Amino acid sequence: MIEIKNLTKYYKDFCAVDNINLKVSKGEILGLLGPNGAGKTTTLRMLTGYFKPSAGSIKVDKFNLPENMIQIKSLIGYLPESAPLYHNMLVYDYLEYVAKIKGIGDREKRHDRFLKLSEICGLSSIMAKPISDLSKGLKQRVGIAHAMMTDPEILILDEPTSGLDPNQIAEIRDIIRTIGKEKTIVFSTHILSEAEATCDRIAIINKGRIVADDTTSNLKQSLEQDSIIKLSLQGASVEEAHTLLSNISSEIHIQHTEPSEKDMISFEIRGKNNKNIRSRIYLKIKETDWIICEFVKESQALEKVFQTLTKEVK
Ligand SMILES: Nc1ncnc2c1ncn2[C@@H]1O[C@H](COP(=O)(O)OP(=O)(O)O)[C@@H](O)[C@H]1O
Ligand SMILES: [Mg+2]
Repeated sequence: MIEIKNLTKYYKDFCAVDNINLKVSKGEILGLLGPNGAGKTTTLRMLTGYFKPSAGSIKVDKFNLPENMIQIKSLIGYLPESAPLYHNMLVYDYLEYVAKIKGIGDREKRHDRFLKLSEICGLSSIMAKPISDLSKGLKQRVGIAHAMMTDPEILILDEPTSGLDPNQIAEIRDIIRTIGKEKTIVFSTHILSEAEATCDRIAIINKGRIVADDTTSNLKQSLEQDSIIKLSLQGASVEEAHTLLSNISSEIHIQHTEPSEKDMISFEIRGKNNKNIRSRIYLKIKETDWIICEFVKESQALEKVFQTLTKEVK
């Protein structure tokens, strides 16, 4: 549905987006995850045709930017970072205004569309309220309704939950998931749990580069496999335990660590296919008279990878 190739954007000499490649399939929810200043907004602005790339190509459906700008814009609904709403208008009047601008001239059609948007975005109780009276979360829902006015195939949201409280975040997530059942969605966020909870796929961007791009479950799974087992024993010497553990598999890496209590010995064990290894370790130790005091898997949260991939290189 979307194909971005070698996309690059310079602001004068500064490279904000550096040769990125991304594919988004129809019906997919892609999270563009990255810290502030990573290049998310710049990427989304190019994708929506608001910024001209310095290099690279963008294809949406069968259309190319910049030649088919009009067709592409009609396929995309876009909610920018700080949604520009007319604060002195009532929600209904605002949506009516947006609908007319977007060419929905027929009154009945507009009415049908408002009903649908009101249902998706939960607007029925606020239609008659001035936008200025709404909470940030409700304003954001009106912004999504705006972006979805012409029922576009693709919805692009730039940090849609930024600055919202946890309840409002949950509501926006629900709306994104509901819309995502029928549409293709790209949204940016600097919050990992956000991407993890909502997206089918996550592309991590840092300093203008894509540093990871996979399905959310694959990202999680690869971490799961690389996770660390912490083991503490009593009744064994470090050498004995090390030898026994080493004989379990040549593919694990065993490191003697500081125990949490004095009369124990502790190890950190790293390796692929962790689940299998855990049971083998357990069965081996069961054959001895050692006591297992600690046997835990330190699950490497996606958080950690995100931190590793995006940390400042000093
Ligand atoms: N109009 C601009 N002119 C110059 N530099 C910009 C401009 N917009 C963004 N930048 C810089 O480009 C980088 C990426 O910005 P942005 O795309 O807004 O990142 P994000 O949305 O991930 O926070 C940042 O270092 C930012 O300071
Ligand atoms: Mg931004």
